[in-house]
Amino acid sequence: MKTLIIGMGALGGLIAARLRAAGLPVWLATRDAEQADRLRASGLRVTGMGGAVTVQATAVAPWDAYGADDKFELVLLATKAHDAIEAAPRLSLLLGPNATLLPIQNGGVPQMLAERLGNCVLGGLSNLGATMEAPGIYEQRNAGHLLIGELAGGESERTERVHRWLERAVEVRATRNLRGAVWSKLLVNCSVTTIGAIAGGTMRGYMASPEGSELFNRTYDEALSVALATGAQPEPMLVEPIPPGWHADGIASEGRDAWIAKVLTAYGDVTPSMLQDFRRGRRTEIEFINGYVVNMAREVGLDAPINAAIVETVHAITSGRFAPNPRLLVQVLRARTHNDQHHGKTASMS
Ligand SMILES: NC(=O)c1ccc[n+]([C@@H]2O[C@H](COP(=O)([O-])OP(=O)(O)OC[C@H]3O[C@@H](n4cnc5c(N)ncnc54)[C@H](OP(=O)(O)O)[C@@H]3O)[C@@H](O)[C@H]2O)c1
Repeated sequence: MKTLIIGMGALGGLIAARLRAAGLPVWLATRDAEQADRLRASGLRVTGMGGAVTVQATAVAPWDAYGADDKFELVLLATKAHDAIEAAPRLSLLLGPNATLLPIQNGGVPQMLAERLGNCVLGGLSNLGATMEAPGIYEQRNAGHLLIGELAGGESERTERVHRWLERAVEVRATRNLRGAVWSKLLVNCSVTTIGAIAGGTMRGYMASPEGSELFNRTYDEALSVALATGAQPEPMLVEPIPPGWHADGIASEGRDAWIAKVLTAYGDVTPSMLQDFRRGRRTEIEFINGYVVNMAREVGLDAPINAAIVETVHAITSGRFAPNPRLLVQVLRARTHNDQHHGKTASMS
């Protein structure tokens, strides 16, 4: 399966190195010629979980150097979410007949690409964790996997084919409920991760304050209400996505504290990657995380005021108006109340 990987950052570089090391025919696409030159000089080196590999970076070029003569059977898109959407118009040029485009970004990216490019898109997300220490030098941070599946649900021959192909190099799982898995990850990203980034720390840190805990509960419940209203059935991940005895009207259930304790065990000490984005002055993926929840709420006739307030706060941080700190959580809660008063039906009344 002639394969192109677009984006040689943390995940793309890790996957490319492991595919190369397994002897698979893989081409690499960087953002520009300078990045391609650097990679050719450095090669690809992976350390960490899953074992160390070092391979040469041949067949590497800037992504716009690949054209209609370079048709691929599989294009794995490993850019950030906004770059994936920007790249979309040119991607169909690179796909041969019956080829597959596999995006692995968080949030609503696979669905958004499928709306633009149609059936060539196979849904994907990454539970693999990776960092790029320098161009060509990657660390695999966990024993995670890529999850793939049809956006429309169910099994397919191509899911099976891509699964068998990629698992020669990295851990891959297939699901019949990719949409549910996307939402489960989104629920964690838009609460655990984004709130941590705004507060400037981890979930364990912000959950120690009443406003941190209130904001987590409200954000999670609102996003879950939207997920269920879209018809998605969130998939169990490390923690059950639907808290025990959960009600959209926010009546606290008996098992909630025990459920939060499990969320904390699974994700409480993870430093949010969005916090790194803030510190490095990089664009965040907020539009595809909490912003996606807000858009999906609108599509199903709901409002998501708390997620909207989170999006506004993240924009205020990236524009330099605020620095991440726990006091911002109170502001988000206040802004939510204001948004509530100006809108109609909210996703969650909790
Ligand atoms: N890293 C993880 O552990 C992890 C885990 C789960 C999910 N994810 C998700 O996976 C996606 C990728 O994450 P990442 O950490 O690998 O990001 P990253 O390190 O920023 O890598 C993205 C790479 O894509 C390059 N790029 C952007 N536009 C391009 C284009 N048109 N053609 C070729 N290359 C292009 C970027 O170049 P520039 O540097 O020049 O922008 C960068 O090298 C994100 O959506 C992220 O949320 C990551």
